[in-house]
Amino acid sequence: MSKIILAIESSCDETACAIIKDDKLLSNIVSTQIEVHAKYGGVMPEIASRLHAENIGIVIKEALHKANVSLNEVDGFAITRGPGLIGALHVGMQAAKTLSLLYKKPLIPVHHLAGHIYANNFVGKLQFPLLAIVVSGGNTEFVIMEKDLDFKIIGRTKDDAVGECFDKVARVLGLPYPGGIPIDKNAKLGKHIYHLPTPLHDDSFDFSYSGLKTNVINLVHKHEQNNDPININDMCKSFQDTAIDMIVEKARKAALKYHVKQIVLAGGVSANSYLREQMINTAKKIKVDIIVPPMWCCTDNAAMIAMVGSMLYDRHVFAPLDISVDPNWEIEDYLKFN
Ligand code: KG4
Repeated sequence: MSKIILAIESSCDETACAIIKDDKLLSNIVSTQIEVHAKYGGVMPEIASRLHAENIGIVIKEALHKANVSLNEVDGFAITRGPGLIGALHVGMQAAKTLSLLYKKPLIPVHHLAGHIYANNFVGKLQFPLLAIVVSGGNTEFVIMEKDLDFKIIGRTKDDAVGECFDKVARVLGLPYPGGIPIDKNAKLGKHIYHLPTPLHDDSFDFSYSGLKTNVINLVHKHEQNNDPININDMCKSFQDTAIDMIVEKARKAALKYHVKQIVLAGGVSANSYLREQMINTAKKIKVDIIVPPMWCCTDNAAMIAMVGSMLYDRHVFAPLDISVDPNWEIEDYLKFN
């Protein structure tokens, strides 16, 4: 039977609403706060919550208008329950609860990273078993999926997320927030001349990025003290290679170990041109299919939440009205929400 799902996403600095009818995306509205947070060099949680509260009504209204759908026609309200910033998540959750209560339609709790993985469904068909490389400002995880909605984490960062590391290194180099974008751009003009040791160069699928960030900071300061300023483009290239090569090499090993049919990239850092290029080459070498998401679904959006929401609707995964958000929700626990 045909169904319409309205999804809301407010986990970080994008207020978003999307409407999906079966597998067809009818609208996908994103209001980004990046310009406001850029002034502070990072996301300010209090400001994020306030801006979500200001914008959420408009974003929902616009998504309904663009989809030419009325709230009476919606069959279920999907909502990002976590992970993310607690105050930001609450704004979306309260909006979704209100709609669910008023229109007497199920409330569907969606895991943000499951959304990022399933964003790939908009451009290709997921094939199992698959390896999802989840890389964003808040997460760095390798996830193995044997089938739909079956997530097993085989490795993760022990400290900073890779996107967070890009952002912090950019700040040290005097580049704007979010740092991944200017580092990616400048690295194209630079050479890998600075030696940065590869952290956690071991057989696990875990990562560590705080040491790499410290190494960059120390090198920059050493050059400053010697009155020999660092070459920004060369540092961007040296840093980016070190940060990304680690992911690519571990992904190659994980894909072989788990005999995966497909690799998918997910999250904000999957927009990185070097990561995309290296992963496509590596997948080709080991003869594994790969999906790299288009730019529009690398960043946060509600279309991906609607995609997962629609699958959960079919499985009757509905939440009670007293559900709370969970800023640290594990993807493996996506069915546990009480
Ligand atoms: O998934 P996302 O939109 O939200 C968070 O989880 O925060 O990811 C944002 C992250 C930021 O750290 C940003 O610097 C990074 O993705 N990013 C990139 C690129 N574009 C965005 N990192 C590396 N290369 C890029 N081209």
